[in-house]
Amino acid sequence: SKKIIIDTDPGQDDAVAILLALASPEELEVLGITAVAGNVPLSLTERNARIICELAGRPDIKVFAGCDAPIARKLVTAEHVHGKTGLDGPELPAPTMPLQEQNAIDFIIDTLRREPPGSVTICALGPLTNLATALQRAPDLAERVAEIVLMGGAYFEVGNITPTAEFNIYVDPEAADIVFSSGIPLTVMPLDVTHKALVTKARNDAFRALGSPVGLAVADMTEFFERFDKEKYGSLGAPLHDPCVTAYLIRPELFEGRHINVEIETQSELTKGMTVADWWGVTDRAPNANFVGNLDAQGFFDLLTERLARF
Ligand code: BDR
Ligand code: CA
Repeated sequence: SKKIIIDTDPGQDDAVAILLALASPEELEVLGITAVAGNVPLSLTERNARIICELAGRPDIKVFAGCDAPIARKLVTAEHVHGKTGLDGPELPAPTMPLQEQNAIDFIIDTLRREPPGSVTICALGPLTNLATALQRAPDLAERVAEIVLMGGAYFEVGNITPTAEFNIYVDPEAADIVFSSGIPLTVMPLDVTHKALVTKARNDAFRALGSPVGLAVADMTEFFERFDKEKYGSLGAPLHDPCVTAYLIRPELFEGRHINVEIETQSELTKGMTVADWWGVTDRAPNANFVGNLDAQGFFDLLTERLARF
């Protein structure tokens, strides 16, 4: 199985992504979970990560806290989507498993230096502050990471936090710029694909019908955070943004992308955080990312439901 580090800002959809990974030990070995400030402040994202590990019956997973603010900007959060706790919806018990004492950045650096080069994949589900900080502090990491698979950006679907920017990239565009220009192999799940991973009523009923604490919690979470997308996009249900990342690592054949150049806008007030994706190859800038545009939505939900049923 693939060794992964999950860098995350839970977030209901982050929670589902983590559950999918923990349910898939044949494909994925979770070395640790690193929390970053994003949807809600760090004190809540690290807590939410521990709540999810306990929900999954995995208090043995190591959870680390990383950066509490973007590299060069004030933190922007998304309580308007995820609620005050970031995990609004289900009633889940307060976590009892400890937060690791080591800082997330040190954990990322130590792990990548300890494991054989090219053997650890990073799943990035929030703003890229932790990863960029680790790369700044330890440039040798770029040679050692197998791949970064991240949720962020948009091309045809433009933005969800500004007219042109997706939330994860917008919150820390300087960090995104560092990651996108690192030379590390990147697979990117932009809104173009995640908006196709919609939890319809029937799909949510299938989660609820699992009847387990995990099934019920996932159903309550997606019911909570679908409001935003229903109102803004008229979508049928909650888009499962972050689970696209972990599903891709389990079943890459469900996804379709193009290897293209993607640059991050960091200067313009109007378009900062935009992922300028050369989808049509109109520049001669070198490709740096597998930018995913499509998925087999039913295959994705079949996989997710089958895996959640394991809890
Ligand atoms: C991304 O932003 C967060 O609100 C979600 O968890 C996801 O990672 C979607 O734009
Ligand atoms: Ca997230």
